[in-house]
Amino acid sequence: MKVHNFGAGPCILPPSVFQQAAQAVLDLDHSGLSILEISHRSAAFDAILAETKALVKELLGVPEGYHILFLQGGASLQFSMVPMNLLPEHGMAAYLDTGVWSTKAIQEAKLFGQVHVVASSADQNYSYIPKSFKVPSDAAYLHITTNNTIYGTEMFQLPEVTVPLVADMSSDIFSMQINVADFDLIYAGAQKNMGPAGATLVIIKDELLGKAGRKLPSMLDFAVHAKNDSLYNTPPVFAIYASMLNLRWLKEQGGVPAMEALNKRKAEVLYAEIDRNPLFRGNVATEDRSRMNITFTAIDSDTEKAFLSICKESGIHGIKGHRLSGGFRASMYNALPLESVEHLVEQMKAFEESR
Ligand SMILES: Cc1ncc(COP(=O)(O)O)c(C=O)c1O
Repeated sequence: MKVHNFGAGPCILPPSVFQQAAQAVLDLDHSGLSILEISHRSAAFDAILAETKALVKELLGVPEGYHILFLQGGASLQFSMVPMNLLPEHGMAAYLDTGVWSTKAIQEAKLFGQVHVVASSADQNYSYIPKSFKVPSDAAYLHITTNNTIYGTEMFQLPEVTVPLVADMSSDIFSMQINVADFDLIYAGAQKNMGPAGATLVIIKDELLGKAGRKLPSMLDFAVHAKNDSLYNTPPVFAIYASMLNLRWLKEQGGVPAMEALNKRKAEVLYAEIDRNPLFRGNVATEDRSRMNITFTAIDSDTEKAFLSICKESGIHGIKGHRLSGGFRASMYNALPLESVEHLVEQMKAFEESR
């Protein structure tokens, strides 16, 4: 039976990426060596790192004046690294609270300075994106989470700010076109649209480097990683290699604009069925509905249980909602084909007919 992977992450990658990565574990480009045993100081890895960086630059249109870094520690370490590097000891940073990941980022930032939460959607279980708020002009930066993986909301409009804009794009990077110049720092754990877990992408404006104003451990200092071109220590060689393969695939598909068109189509197909089918309900504000993580509930818990078991029987994997939001969550990252979404919709229709 074909398995349709709607998991939230680590998530589906294209089959061709799995095949090439598997081959490279056995023998990297006929070198007689595995990708798992080559030196990170070798010419082979230099080429891999350079190509991965070039692909990020090309696919996202990263302008001059930014560094592209591949770090470790997941997006969660960025919750600390960002304030450590950008929030002066007696300064203040502004945060928009749109869900669990924002809350965690806020919690870490409080260890390093004052935090001003400009708005929060906690009052309605994070089912919408707050849109009218003021950002103090003396904030060191405004931090946003562009896609809320757990609650299923996404920001389609950026706040207008005069302070540096920092974005956690872990679950929607490479899924839609962005203007990198609108941001001063972007970070993302790789394990959604970039590659396997283990690497974290950071795109940082050069002028933010070395601005900490406090002593930092080398491994937590963006300036150290930038100066050493992500090779200050042993980087996550395999995760970067597999990310390169995935970004090559993305380019072959037509790049981010093609992905955006496909992601829009996939989301339309599923939301249309959620809205039509009397057994299901969408649970976030329509204008903020995520294209990456589609959250919905069944009309009651028996219906939910029954549909979950149908999903299991029909090869639909990873659709149970996060424990905090319940119901269902269909994660539809770049590599998930439209056919998988159509398969899910067919099961929802058949389920309705059977009740
Ligand atoms: C938006 C967002 N930010 C941060 C994280 C945490 O990422 P990591 O597990 O790489 O630390 C996640 C994980 O799912 C996420 O979805």
